[in-house]
Amino acid sequence: MRLAVYPGSFDPITRGHVDVIQRAAIVFDQLVVAVLVNTRKTPSIEAGERAQMIREALEEELGVDEAAAIEVITFEGLTVDLARSRGATSIVRGLRALSDFENEQAIAHLNRKLAPEIDTVFFMTGLEHAYLSSSLVREIAAFGGDVSAMVPDAVARRLRERPRS
Ligand code: PNS
Repeated sequence: MRLAVYPGSFDPITRGHVDVIQRAAIVFDQLVVAVLVNTRKTPSIEAGERAQMIREALEEELGVDEAAAIEVITFEGLTVDLARSRGATSIVRGLRALSDFENEQAIAHLNRKLAPEIDTVFFMTGLEHAYLSSSLVREIAAFGGDVSAMVPDAVARRLRERPRS
């Protein structure tokens, strides 16, 4: 069985992330979406709520049955340690543009040094999502802008309900 871990901050999940999840779910037998608790970027949304947003978003976007096959968890520590503990063959990451490549290449090489048996598999985010980033979504939402084209409806609703910082 081919199991992949898709790690990220998902602060919050965007339509681009959902696109990567949908495509990875076709390639792998099992997909674990793993929300990092303490990211290098100080998260604006608590990890448990980020994970809950992902579950709600996947149920709405993919339907209950397809979403049930995708596990969403929170984790701390190294991605490779999580991947090993789950018996994953692969780590999934999305690439939006060339600008993502340098950083992702470094992370992939380092992860491979740490865990040579686990490979990173990249999915090109759909062109219509290439401009999306969680940080821009957060900024727009913080100023009361409409982010419904950028994030799943479930996430847009939650962002609207949150007090503006
Ligand atoms: O969504 P992001 O912020 O681009 O995700 C980055 C993430 C979570 C994949 C990366 O920071 C990560 O894997 N962090 C866990 C700690 C780790 O394994 N570090 C070594 C590789 S940088």
